[in-house]
Amino acid sequence: MRIVRMHEYGDPGVLKTEEAPVPGPGPGQVLIAAEAISVGFAQTQMRRNIFPAPMWQPVFPITLGGDVVGRVAALGPEVSGVQVGDRVGAFTLHGAYADYVVVDADTLLPVPEGLDAAQATALPSPGPIASGTLGTAGMAAGQTVLVHAASGGIGHLSVQLARAAGAGLVIGTASSPEKLEFVRALGADAAVDYSRTGWADKVREATGGRGVDIVLDSVGGDVLREGIGLLAPFGRLVFYGSAGGGLEIPKVSPMELIRLKFLTGFALSTWRDTRPQEYAQNHARLVKALGDGTVRHAVHATLTLTDVAKAHELIESRAHTGRIVLLPGHS
Ligand SMILES: NC(=O)c1ccc[n+]([C@@H]2O[C@H](COP(=O)([O-])OP(=O)(O)OC[C@H]3O[C@@H](n4cnc5c(N)ncnc54)[C@H](OP(=O)(O)O)[C@@H]3O)[C@@H](O)[C@H]2O)c1
Repeated sequence: MRIVRMHEYGDPGVLKTEEAPVPGPGPGQVLIAAEAISVGFAQTQMRRNIFPAPMWQPVFPITLGGDVVGRVAALGPEVSGVQVGDRVGAFTLHGAYADYVVVDADTLLPVPEGLDAAQATALPSPGPIASGTLGTAGMAAGQTVLVHAASGGIGHLSVQLARAAGAGLVIGTASSPEKLEFVRALGADAAVDYSRTGWADKVREATGGRGVDIVLDSVGGDVLREGIGLLAPFGRLVFYGSAGGGLEIPKVSPMELIRLKFLTGFALSTWRDTRPQEYAQNHARLVKALGDGTVRHAVHATLTLTDVAKAHELIESRAHTGRIVLLPGHS
């Protein structure tokens, strides 16, 4: 089979497509014959060895993780409740860029037969992060939601899910006119270029001066700092990524938080591990939303395993809208 390996950290060129034997699943694991694998921003950080989370403890050669959709090809020992041939999805931190992927059986999610594989890569992590951050913020109908990086793989789902959940006003930020157009087409009421000075004033204007109830922040740094300033009383900011490179939470005056502002974070694995039932129920809702068209997983490009470096280049040049997907069977 083909597998993409890194033997060092660095630019996209360190991603090498190689031949290797199909791996065997260990105890509690299954082997998936991959139909589609999605590529996200976090993997570009892993490739450069600047990924902030401590659970990332790789050993060379490294095969990066991601969202995998495919069919179960083999079962390891001590696996029950799943059959060879089942269509499944999973999010894994390691080993996803390959024709065959080994994952822990307890992370598998069912994927309906009729759902396009590239569409279905929204199910393991992007969709749950979009809905989980909105849930963590306690979003209620009528509220104002500010989605940062709203044209990205997760952000564009957040815009649609906030809209579908009855948000009163959805405002998306992005860094180019094309992306802003894409964000408006998703159903956002307003789209603001946050790469330009004064962007926060434009967001405030869009709320009639009131501020926002919810901020979903995957950028961090100054964007996070200004987001706190935009919160209306009882407003909640959920931090879930650092695409802007700022890991330090900027200084926040207690006198700002005293105005009933809430600052929290979200990690998919923590949610999945601590509230598995809620996570499973959310999966069922996402399957329905993708199936009936309430939510569309916009696929910017489908590439082959041998073109994986191009996928990373697109993400790092901030050139994409929606998700970039690898199709192993199409090389
Ligand atoms: N908490 C969790 O459990 C979890 C899990 C996976 C991923 N994440 C995070 O979720 C965020 C979105 O991930 P994704 O897979 O949807 O990524 P993606 O599709 O690549 O989108 C990343 C977005 O970040 C924006 N961005 C801002 N600063 C950037 C920079 N310096 N370089 C490149 N992009 C930049 C880009 O939009 P503009 O060009 O419009 O700014 C882009 O739309 C990332 O921060 C990722 O680390 C969190």
